[in-house]
Amino acid sequence: MTDTVTRLHGDQLTLAYGSKTIAESLSVAIPDGHFTAIIGPNGCGKSTLLRTLSRLMTPTHGQVYLDGEQIQRYASKEVAKRIGLLAQNATTPGDITVQELVARGRYPHQPLFTRWRQEDEQAVSRAMQATRITDLAGQNVDTLSGGQRQRAWIAMVLAQETAIMLLDEPTTWLDISHQIELLELLSELNREKGYTLAAVLHDLNQACRYATHLIALREGKIVAEGAPKEIVSAELIEKIYGMKCVIIDDPVAGTPLVVPLGRRSARG
Ligand SMILES: Nc1ncnc2c1ncn2[C@@H]1O[C@H](COP(=O)(O)OP(=O)(O)OP(=O)(O)O)[C@@H](O)[C@H]1O
Ligand SMILES: [Mg+2]
Repeated sequence: MTDTVTRLHGDQLTLAYGSKTIAESLSVAIPDGHFTAIIGPNGCGKSTLLRTLSRLMTPTHGQVYLDGEQIQRYASKEVAKRIGLLAQNATTPGDITVQELVARGRYPHQPLFTRWRQEDEQAVSRAMQATRITDLAGQNVDTLSGGQRQRAWIAMVLAQETAIMLLDEPTTWLDISHQIELLELLSELNREKGYTLAAVLHDLNQACRYATHLIALREGKIVAEGAPKEIVSAELIEKIYGMKCVIIDDPVAGTPLVVPLGRRSARG
């Protein structure tokens, strides 16, 4: 996949915090027009990778390319017009309502000295409707429940209307019905509007059901990548997570369903 031309890819990346190296010679491409799920154990470098691909973090070696140019060469606003990022553990900027937070997603689109336009207003309403937070518009973000706050952040990224969206654990904090609703929304944005999405997901069964491409990471390396049906096997799961499982077909979607054996299982 790394030799395919894609709008967003990293080439031979070394990622580090001070002297602590997280990844070395990591080449990764976010395939255009796909819904990619990034999977892998805690601490393997998923968030570090997304931060690097969105230019929040600079690699020690190697380059991230966006539309054929080194991402460092773009003005920040230009990057924000093309890539939206939902960060893990984003902190709310002080005293701000839901509507104001979502409206921040429009800043990259507003020309200097231009007032709030109708298209900005519409993008904000659409994003709030899609994430079902319209009735919370006037509420202070600090007073929201964990799941409501997560949906407000997602709405901000949606309002940004970028063709590429990087989402770090978008389903965390959401109850199961909101998780499925969000994954269906993302899947729809991908299929119907052609958005390129890459999301970190911990739920492997949801990743297999909704993503069209998987990137499996372990200790800063890509262990496997490809369509879920093609790459997910009990061997792969054991290699990534050190956990035994059986894989069956999801009775609803037909995609791989990972059933952990557990430590006490006779089959383990
Ligand atoms: N600001 C930081 N300073 C130092 N080390 C960091 C920093 N941020 C992350 N790390 C370390 O880098 C490694 C990778 O972290 P990262 O957040 O990318 O993991 P992750 O795959 O997203 O994990 P999780 O599934 O728990 O979110 C971890 O060992 C973590 O402790
Ligand atoms: Mg993370």
